[in-house]
Amino acid sequence: MSSIQNINIIPEPVSLEISTGKFILTEGTRIYSDHELVKLSEYLKNLLLPTTGFSLIVKETKEKKSNDISINLNLVDNKGQLGFEGYTIEISVKDICIIAPNQVGIFYGIQTLRQLLPPEVNKSSIDENREWQIPCLKLEDFPRFSWRGYMLDEARHFHGKEIVKKMLDMMALLKLNKFHWHLTDDQGWRIEIKKYPKLTEIGSKREETQVGGRFSKKRDEIPHSGYYSQKDIQEIIEHARDRFIKVIPEIDIPGHTRAILASYPDLSCKGYPFRVSTHWGFHKDVLCVGKEKVFEFIQNVLKEIIDLFPSNIVHIGGDEVLTRRWKECPYCQLRLEKEGLKNVKELQTYFTNRVIAFLNTYGQEIIIWNDSLNKNLKGKPICQYWFRGMKDVLEYLKKGGAVIMSDFRYTYLDHSYTFTPLKLAYNFEPIPKKLDERYHKQVLGLEALMWGEYIPNIKRLEWQTFPRLIAFAEIGWTPKFKKNFNFFQERLKFFLKKLDINGINYADLREVKGNIFKRPFKVFTLATEEKGGT
Ligand code: ACM
Ligand code: ZN
Repeated sequence: MSSIQNINIIPEPVSLEISTGKFILTEGTRIYSDHELVKLSEYLKNLLLPTTGFSLIVKETKEKKSNDISINLNLVDNKGQLGFEGYTIEISVKDICIIAPNQVGIFYGIQTLRQLLPPEVNKSSIDENREWQIPCLKLEDFPRFSWRGYMLDEARHFHGKEIVKKMLDMMALLKLNKFHWHLTDDQGWRIEIKKYPKLTEIGSKREETQVGGRFSKKRDEIPHSGYYSQKDIQEIIEHARDRFIKVIPEIDIPGHTRAILASYPDLSCKGYPFRVSTHWGFHKDVLCVGKEKVFEFIQNVLKEIIDLFPSNIVHIGGDEVLTRRWKECPYCQLRLEKEGLKNVKELQTYFTNRVIAFLNTYGQEIIIWNDSLNKNLKGKPICQYWFRGMKDVLEYLKKGGAVIMSDFRYTYLDHSYTFTPLKLAYNFEPIPKKLDERYHKQVLGLEALMWGEYIPNIKRLEWQTFPRLIAFAEIGWTPKFKKNFNFFQERLKFFLKKLDINGINYADLREVKGNIFKRPFKVFTLATEEKGGT
């Protein structure tokens, strides 16, 4: 396969037929749309304005004159296989027609149109001497998976609003639709909770940061802090909503909670003072499951989260919970006895069940890391798979559970390109081989995880993220039979031009190749600091 007439779309669409001729965008091109789509017409106009210099006239379809050269956005009843997010585009010499059953499909049609234009259309300044042409074609497109996610961990390093918005813009261009925001961890609490001001007064600040990897004794001696006010969060949710991206907050409990315990030590088993953690790894002090006040705290925090995030879905973490403190704690032991629980693993399930019950009363969907799966789990939270326990995940699917795939070998964006080269990432298949076809629909999709331990700045963040996130976008959208790594690499060269134009850093095609001889040794150094990108 080769790229045809400069058509380089990522993710590769479901079907594409090229015909002869081309549409030329000029100052006289009109944008017509249904009444409900006027905001999207304005969005398209504003995308085209900076580089073309054309301030296109936007009107409703009913005002269209037959001889106008125009871009048309229209809603239709879903007759075929387009589904919720699908769309079609037809381009003739005279018209561009983007049609979809829902606004989101129109939005994705616009993203494809952006990719059909020369990459220079993404510039922020005028490019006067260019002809803005698009080949005539017919295209039908819809996603393979409904869950196409990107996770950003800002607990380990706080980046701030503008960087998050920039990432959301890139997600939109790639038709990614879920932004999972890891806002709390041992090394920082990053979201204002009005009822518990110490979470940010104390929990959002750490004295210094471990450098040189997980087992290094070295610290940078530089304080690190930052958090989002609820107003900031609303601003980001709006930015995401305008790009048809759902924001899913993660409040990671009952482990990964040193920042909570530094703010409110009473919520631990031991009760003594803690510091917000300055090193990586997992920590033995976790929330006490014996104390009622812990549940009261969690419920109050989650209530503010539910009120703030309109997504109706909360990730409650549950990964890597060490149980040593629970074994020694009189409160936890009393709980174990009173509830007739067999062991401390069951205590975690007891904890999770209570949080699930609370969130269910508010009609929330819930996500847990697969570490929390247990046969006594009540309800059917969505399970996010990352490491070990695939057998439990397969069982969960057979029992009707839904799963998001984030296998650490493929989808961890913090891993080196030696451990997870671009080709390996691209060839990730979210549906487990051993899964019977009747359960395939319960695999909602995939999510790429940008863990933040070794990501102190935007340059590193972008370098680790791109181009791998571009590959994950294609896995999430494009039919499996159409995936082809060589063809992807050809299209990628054009996509990278957009990153150049927008000043986004990425690992170049030599850096992402990996080395099959070195890869096995990288397993032993996964927890060391990766270099590159700066
Ligand atoms: C994880 O990487 N602890 C989910
Ligand atoms: Zn306890």
